[in-house]
Amino acid sequence: MSERADLQGRHIVLGLSGGIACYKSAELVRLLTKAGATVQVVMTEAAEAFITPVTMQALSGRKVYTSQWDAREANNMPHINLGREADAIVVAPASADFIAKLAQGRADELLSLMCLARPREACPLIVVPAMNREMWSHPATQRNVAQLVSDGASVFGPGSGDQACGEVGDGRMLEPEEILADLIAFFQPKQLQGRRLLITAGPTFEPIDPVRGITNHSSGKMGFAIARAAAERGAQVTLVAGPVHLSTPRGVQRIDVMTAQQMFDTVLPLAAQHEVFIATAAVADWRPATLAEHKIKKDGKKLAPSFELTENPDILAAVASLAVPPYCVGFAAESEHLLEHARAKLQRKRVPLIVGNLGPATFGKDDNALLLVDAEHARPLPADGTSADKLTLARELMAELARRLPARR
Ligand code: C5P
Repeated sequence: MSERADLQGRHIVLGLSGGIACYKSAELVRLLTKAGATVQVVMTEAAEAFITPVTMQALSGRKVYTSQWDAREANNMPHINLGREADAIVVAPASADFIAKLAQGRADELLSLMCLARPREACPLIVVPAMNREMWSHPATQRNVAQLVSDGASVFGPGSGDQACGEVGDGRMLEPEEILADLIAFFQPKQLQGRRLLITAGPTFEPIDPVRGITNHSSGKMGFAIARAAAERGAQVTLVAGPVHLSTPRGVQRIDVMTAQQMFDTVLPLAAQHEVFIATAAVADWRPATLAEHKIKKDGKKLAPSFELTENPDILAAVASLAVPPYCVGFAAESEHLLEHARAKLQRKRVPLIVGNLGPATFGKDDNALLLVDAEHARPLPADGTSADKLTLARELMAELARRLPARR
């Protein structure tokens, strides 16, 4: 993920207030810098009780600021200068007390002073709460958080689960990987804000007997990348996934299925509630006509078993022929003659857009090359005909989709 350097050129001021979650902020600095960002750490006195500026300096490669009286700045105004250089201020962890201070506009130490003094248009404030569940659910905290949001701040999380105090509930700081993913998404253009997308991904598995089945090499990576790219752009995403070993992208609602029939039964009732349907799944064309109740055994006569196949329903064609279909995007995984096959599929399935790719070159891989085919045009992605990682391609595909979508219904 970080190899793509999604935060290249971004300068992040990372503020730490006091909380045990400070130890996670050390890892967060590493992830941010690996993703290409420069990170300037600012710590409150309470944060220094949990983790040292030495650690944070070593990881960020920059001297840490802890005081509004720090004379290192030529004009002696770190609270002004730091916020003017930043693309965002991220306060992680944000304690209940620090959130209360921000909500009131108080400024009696460097971090809160800097947050108040930041140029609000150019430097968004992102707050990542971390506290005990009672503190989080307290009406005072909820009031303060609501105030921060109405003042224009963004809030990431909190997560839910085990807490350092031994209790279980809401208030945990998000994991560093989650904060990174949310921050990367934060900077993506919100071209699909509020749009509802339904996506299928992965292979299907068609059982022959209780231990065997027919499947294919699809890893689901392309479909999951599309789900992530759509969610990053503000879409509400439902992802119907065949058997894959991938974690669910942030903010995506995932439904797991096994067979083509299950995928069909899941997708069809959902399709009408979505504005876009993207069929990335490599659905098995056929399934065994009958499912053997027990494992098929060798018969000792070296005679291979034979079984009949029956055709699976075509999910994409079924969705495209609904009375009011969503905007449908199909995929074509071919081994040759990509353009001809994609064009044929466009007509056969009656969809406005087919994305062609070469099956053997994409299945299981992190990189891919796409050919966007509609009735008139064919456009390679990347434009220079080389290959790119699937998330980069998915983001370009979502930008293209946003241009093609009809105005909101
Ligand atoms: O029919 P074919 O497999 O060539 O077409 C591929 C496209 O159709 C993909 O978008 C795939 O997700 C979709 N498809 C489907 N249901 C099937 C077979 C394919 O939705 N049973």
